[in-house]
Amino acid sequence: TELGTFKNVLLSNDDGIATLTINRPKSLNALNSATLEDIGKALDVVKSHADDVKILVITGSGEKSFVAGADISQMQSMNSIEAANLSKLAHNSFEKIENLPQFTIAAINGYTLGGGLELASSCDIRVATNKAKFGQPEVTLGIIPGFGGTQRLTRLVGRGKAKEMIAMGTMIDAEEAFRIGLIEEIVEPENLVPKVKEIAKQIMKNGLIAVGMAKYVIDRGADLPLDVAIDFETQLWAETFATKDQKEGMSAFLEKRAANFQNK
Ligand code: HXC
Repeated sequence: TELGTFKNVLLSNDDGIATLTINRPKSLNALNSATLEDIGKALDVVKSHADDVKILVITGSGEKSFVAGADISQMQSMNSIEAANLSKLAHNSFEKIENLPQFTIAAINGYTLGGGLELASSCDIRVATNKAKFGQPEVTLGIIPGFGGTQRLTRLVGRGKAKEMIAMGTMIDAEEAFRIGLIEEIVEPENLVPKVKEIAKQIMKNGLIAVGMAKYVIDRGADLPLDVAIDFETQLWAETFATKDQKEGMSAFLEKRAANFQNK
């Protein structure tokens, strides 16, 4: 079922797995400000449908590209103030992805460059086809990554690899992206949708409050000193004992049956 209609973004829900598709295939799904706004609005819809949307998949339309970056034709004549506003618009939308209660999967079908890699880096995990190509080509345009790339890419692959990718501005292939831990899964193109569904369905069998809390404390804890982050984990761990899911999950184990989580 369709969840909302936007000019540059498609949003549908299929048995609890929602798909947000960046839909500007003629520009290889480049992110202009209207598209970033549409992404933000679509994410608000996803958040407000937490009862029937359990997992969010983000992908790009067409065979060729996930997202080939921010829209260069829109940025070409921008001044610093306009550039800052574009960056803030992207941060706003990408932070919404991280703050969703639902687990998010980037389904990567092709070029994932600049703002596209920054979008993918904001998702919880990345599943890509072996045809995908990744890069932060900003310095080839005389700018630096401005949608979180200097920070999220660094946290995913480490400072050295992030600096190498950002300073060279060249693309790496999916094998290399897998090797450096930038993507979690690599599949043949025809297996992209099945693999993403398989992962989503496995996650959906679990207590989804717990999944959401785990995602939250992993992300928030990553930027805290270890002792503070560990305390934070203890707090959220204790909170899971206030859910019906915890009683159900442990009862099901002891009764040797499958758990039937209500996400309560
Ligand atoms: C606007 C883009 C675009 C982009 C592609 N297109 N990427 N338009 N912004 N980022 C458009 C092309 O202009 C072209 O339009 C059409 O999409 C098809 O692209 P081609 O270049 O003809 O395809 P191909 O030769 O196959 O090359 C694919 C490609 C190349 C390697 C991905 O398009 C490319 O290098 N794109 C730019 C990648 C990039 O530098 N991205 C980073 C942007 S900076 P027409 O009208 O000619 O058909 C960035 C910064 C984020 O993201 C932070 C900023 C604040």
